[in-house]
Amino acid sequence: MGVLKRLNLNLANNLFVQPSSILFPKYRIFEAISEPMEFQQNISLKSFNTFNIECRAANFAELHSLEDIRSIIDEGRLNNQTVLILGGGSNLLFTKDFDGLVLHPCFKGIELLEEDEKSVKVRVAAGEVWEDFVAHTVEKGWMGIENLALIPGLMGAAPMQNIGAYGVELKDVFDHLRAVDLHTGNLVKFSKEECEFGYRTSIFKTSHRGQFLIYDVCMNLKKNSEINISYRALRDYFEQNKIVEINQRAVFDAVVAIRDSKLPKPEELGSAGSFFKNPVVDQSKFENLKKEYLDIVGYPQENGQIKLAAGWLIDRAGLKGYRIGNVGVHEKQALVLVNYGGATGKEVFDLSVFVQEKVNEKFSVWLEPEVNMV
Ligand code: EPU
Repeated sequence: MGVLKRLNLNLANNLFVQPSSILFPKYRIFEAISEPMEFQQNISLKSFNTFNIECRAANFAELHSLEDIRSIIDEGRLNNQTVLILGGGSNLLFTKDFDGLVLHPCFKGIELLEEDEKSVKVRVAAGEVWEDFVAHTVEKGWMGIENLALIPGLMGAAPMQNIGAYGVELKDVFDHLRAVDLHTGNLVKFSKEECEFGYRTSIFKTSHRGQFLIYDVCMNLKKNSEINISYRALRDYFEQNKIVEINQRAVFDAVVAIRDSKLPKPEELGSAGSFFKNPVVDQSKFENLKKEYLDIVGYPQENGQIKLAAGWLIDRAGLKGYRIGNVGVHEKQALVLVNYGGATGKEVFDLSVFVQEKVNEKFSVWLEPEVNMV
């Protein structure tokens, strides 16, 4: 209930629920804000990262329109300094002050490109809040991303790492995106294939890292389609709560309840969600581990490999709830590292190495961070 209230409050502040949005199908055209762009110097990034790490950026600019980013490119401001594109700051760890230029995309707007009785094609600007958009799709009965409820961050970051949860990934509904080429200022379209989505990855994290700024994302959502309850925790939730009418709203509510019970609330405890990726190992390695640890959690992959639950590994290494100074391993979900207040990025980083080493000692598996380190 608390969570639903929180969501409703968010929505109340969000243009999505303005009356016009409910009445008219083409309700929000992309908005360019005509205020002059402001460059700030030496600003605190504490409120721009969900770990709540105090650190400073040498230069900072909010982008409200294509013109803003194009003028930055034309003026040569990207040439002599490191550039960081910072959306909601929900998947990164600042380990030191940032000595370059932070670009903070604030592009707003959603646009209904196509609609028929079975589906909608909707384009969402990179600066829209992901979890508000998911809540909006549930209100509208547009199906496909209800399993991705409450994931923190902005729309532009969603394709970067192909966000996923409870059996669904962004790629399942993705149509294309448009991104600004930071060398030319041109808007370039990327199809699903061109994005090369994988588990928590895309070309924007690998071969094209730092070259493009995602401007908007276009998705295909269905009306009256099947819901996805393939994920075990979801089915368990319905069973335990004796919920029999399982529709889109029920899935959304279940995901909200599960996430709320396990993951720290950003406003209460700093974190970046899962700190590590779930590691993928060969079948033979899995069989060996299983001989020793009968209840080890593993998900078979299409290529025959097995994805292990990193949370389980950290938990069984005895680290769930472990705390040192201002940082720790979350007591309800061991895959999440938390800042109890006042931690430095270095403290979180050192804890992450400690976790990697302990897990490696016990299981001979090396965990890779999911979080981007800056
Ligand atoms: N587990 C434990 N102890 C723990 C945590 C987990 O034994 O402390 C076990 C659970 O009992 C379960 C298994 O590990 O059998 C998997 O746990 P869970 O369902 O919580 O999911 P996860 O694999 O830990 C992934 C994503 C999450 C996403 C959930 C649900 C990654 C890196 N993380 O976590 O994504 O919400 O599945 O789909 O893939 C994120 O990326 O920030 C994130 C939160």
